[in-house]
Amino acid sequence: GEGEMAIGIDRIGMFVPDQYLDLTDLATARGVEPSKFTVGIGQSRMSVPRQCDDIVSMGANAIADILPEIDVDRLGLMVVGTESGIDQSKSSSLFIKHLLGLPNRIESFEIKEACFGGTAGLFVAYHYVAAHPDRTVLVVASDVARYGLGTSGEVTQGAGAVAMLVSANPGIIALDDDSEDYSEDINDFWRPNGRTEALVDGKYSMRVYLDFFRHAFDAYCDRRSLGLDDFGALLFHLPFTKMGVKALRVALEQADDRNRERLEGNFAMSARYSREVGNLYAGSLYLSLLSWLENPRGDDGDVGDDGVRALAGQRIGLFSYGSGAMGKFFTGRVQPGYQRHLRVQAHARMLNDRRRIDVAEYERLFAAYYGTGDFETQIPSSGFYFSGVRHSIRQYSLAD
Ligand code: HMG
Repeated sequence: GEGEMAIGIDRIGMFVPDQYLDLTDLATARGVEPSKFTVGIGQSRMSVPRQCDDIVSMGANAIADILPEIDVDRLGLMVVGTESGIDQSKSSSLFIKHLLGLPNRIESFEIKEACFGGTAGLFVAYHYVAAHPDRTVLVVASDVARYGLGTSGEVTQGAGAVAMLVSANPGIIALDDDSEDYSEDINDFWRPNGRTEALVDGKYSMRVYLDFFRHAFDAYCDRRSLGLDDFGALLFHLPFTKMGVKALRVALEQADDRNRERLEGNFAMSARYSREVGNLYAGSLYLSLLSWLENPRGDDGDVGDDGVRALAGQRIGLFSYGSGAMGKFFTGRVQPGYQRHLRVQAHARMLNDRRRIDVAEYERLFAAYYGTGDFETQIPSSGFYFSGVRHSIRQYSLAD
């Protein structure tokens, strides 16, 4: 409300591995019509991690994307949201904190609730800053999405990380702390201890996602007396872009043509990055946010010299979903001057400079991803990387 301190996302960084599988290649190898993947599922490419890309290295690289702009002296907490844990006890956040050379006085831990972990971290950060307005929090969402070769989930894999700095008077998005939450103990998607791939009841998971969205969105709009006119964009957790199309359809059931055209156009911008990288699990919703902010729509709002639309002041609605299951609908406002804090060119390069690999190489990397015992990985050309396991301890390094 009026006069209250704004808290939210001050900076956003991202990282995806530097290679991808083209999904028409995957379709051909699996004997599937390519349009099923590119239109039916709505994905073009997926990120493929090498053995040296794990949640620690990817999370550290996503933070490195924004670290030069972070005042480390103010940093009080670092939280990692993930469902691709690398240890049953020790948190990935401690490895990341050490790799980046962050001070030991920083509190640091990991959170899990499937794809909801990044959002859980974001709201922990919100409340931390509300209690300590002079401090900031790093929230990292980092995951490897794996379903198994030849499964129906295979086309919805991906890997990567998003890092967000949360602060008072944020540079990019001020969040509202009045979300609508919904949780239920169900089995739509899960990964039992000892398994390296998720188990999933795919069609059921899609139904539950849509039910939770409908419930949370309707309840939030009723409580706040909001309608579609009040939203500049509706953004979604995107396990694959078609899922967001279906959720948006639910929101637009009563829409007039103007709202439909506007919200569909904005959704298309939010889905661009996901279509190129696949499911990032905990990071997917925030990749949608970044994609929407960084991709100009041309006919909507003033486009600045840098080609980015002026979205400042717009209210956005975000739907976070984590299987198991937890759903949250929340809102935020785009902050004046947000364009200055985006890294549009760097992110375009990160996506466009990736190497296309063939299905045989993807299958080889998939099979070799989890090593056993002590081993060494191959050193990448740049960035933080997982170098292997020595005496049962994971080792990390920086390539240059
Ligand atoms: P499937 O068996 O391939 O599905 O599994 P399908 O046969 O229904 O085909 C998919 C779509 O392609 C359909 O479109 C077909 O009509 C269309 P729709 O009717 O739904 O609009 N299609 C074609 N389109 C054009 N040309 C063609 C053609 N053929 C068919 N020739 C499924 C798909 C998503 C279920 C599977 O990939 C899967 O199980 N994925 C993993 C689970 C998942 O992502 N669930 C999403 C909701 S749960 C969630 O988001 C949480 C999650 O991120 C995990 C977490 O929280 O940690 C997953």
